[in-house]
Amino acid sequence: MIHLIFFLIFLVIVTSSVSSSSSPLSCKQESGGFSSNLPYPFGLGEKSEIKLNCSKIGEIKIGEFVVKNVTSNKILIHFPANCNRSFDKLNNLYGKNFGVSSRNSLLLQGCQSPSSKCLILSSLIENRLGSQSCDISGLSSNITCYIDESGFEFLDIEKVGNNCSTLLSSVVVDAGNKKVDNNSGTDVALNFNTLELGWWLVGNCSCHFNADCVIVNGTDPHGGGMVRGYRCQCRHGFTGDGFAAATGCRAG
Ligand SMILES: *[C@@H]1O[C@H](CO)[C@@H](O)[C@H](O)[C@H]1NC(C)=O
Ligand SMILES: *[C@@H]1O[C@H](CO)[C@@H](O)[C@H](O)[C@H]1NC(C)=O
Ligand SMILES: *[C@@H]1O[C@H](CO)[C@@H](O)[C@H](O)[C@H]1NC(C)=O
Ligand SMILES: *[C@@H]1O[C@H](CO)[C@@H](O)[C@H](O)[C@H]1NC(C)=O
Ligand SMILES: *[C@@H]1O[C@H](CO)[C@@H](O)[C@H](O)[C@H]1NC(C)=O
Ligand SMILES: *[C@@H]1O[C@H](CO)[C@@H](O)[C@H](O)[C@H]1NC(C)=O
Ligand SMILES: *[C@@H]1O[C@H](CO)[C@@H](O)[C@H](O)[C@H]1NC(C)=O
Ligand SMILES: *[C@@H]1O[C@H](CO)[C@@H](O)[C@H](O)[C@H]1NC(C)=O
Repeated sequence: MIHLIFFLIFLVIVTSSVSSSSSPLSCKQESGGFSSNLPYPFGLGEKSEIKLNCSKIGEIKIGEFVVKNVTSNKILIHFPANCNRSFDKLNNLYGKNFGVSSRNSLLLQGCQSPSSKCLILSSLIENRLGSQSCDISGLSSNITCYIDESGFEFLDIEKVGNNCSTLLSSVVVDAGNKKVDNNSGTDVALNFNTLELGWWLVGNCSCHFNADCVIVNGTDPHGGGMVRGYRCQCRHGFTGDGFAAATGCRAG
């Protein structure tokens, strides 16, 4: 199925540069602390359930990476193609409450056993990298891609490994809304230069009464295996963050 999606990539290039008119995330340091338009459970203060950072120029950050958006189940990170990014940087994207989602297709270089799975993808990336100062031309560059097929929500970093030296980029494959269109492929969207993290809260479910508690098998950032987490999701017909401690869910 996933291989089919990659085959169809040619058909959907047009969707690749997603831009949205809604206002992007930003933050500001003020005398009393930080202010931002982050929704619960995200925040910048020490007491936030999921604490992110605010840069001097008002960008929300996780480690060195800029957070583009957060949604009810994911965090989207700006992850531009960079042929000089060490594979180990992936470790920095696993935290107490978030981890690298298995919907990312990682583009790797310098692997001990390269595969040819992503020839189409690498030629697309090549076009997008433009004049970057690294050799990714043609087959000699041996770009490998890693696609997780384990069925778990998060990438197991040990399995990605394969002793790759470089983490070139990531593409989020969004297989879209099957309800809208049965014809697999036509609604596949590719989000280039983006890395998707999944998030969770730990502890007992504390959701609004019009929300479902979704159990999340998170990952321990220190390699301790699975962590039981949860997220709240408003039921059909309701909108909101779903958490009892925040705005909950409202009809409509
Ligand atoms: C951020 O995500 C929300 C929820 O999915 C969406 O409505 C909004 O358009 C997104 N904002 C940007 C700037 O992409
Ligand atoms: C925020 O910055 C602090 C101090 O530099 C760092 O220890 C922490 O890991 C950062 N948190 C995130 C989510 O990047
Ligand atoms: C690539 O990274 C190495 C080590 O981090 C650094 O020494 C080198 O200058 C970088 N090269 C480029 C082109 O950024
Ligand atoms: C790319 O792969 C080919 C065949 O597997 C190999 O001969 C070549 O050395 C590799 N090139 C690099 C730069 O790793
Ligand atoms: C990766 O490298 C280490 C040491 O260099 C080696 O022991 C291990 O077998 C390698 N793993 C793979 C998947 O090639
Ligand atoms: C989608 O597929 C299901 C079963 O294959 C079918 O019953 C349904 O009518 C299809 N929906 C659309 C919009 O084509
Ligand atoms: C979860 O609920 C149980 C039973 O009510 C309680 O004993 C436990 O301390 C709670 N755990 C947390 C982390 O709040
Ligand atoms: C979470 O892990 C448990 C136990 O390993 C498993 O039974 C369950 O299906 C997993 N849930 C999801 C959503 O992956």
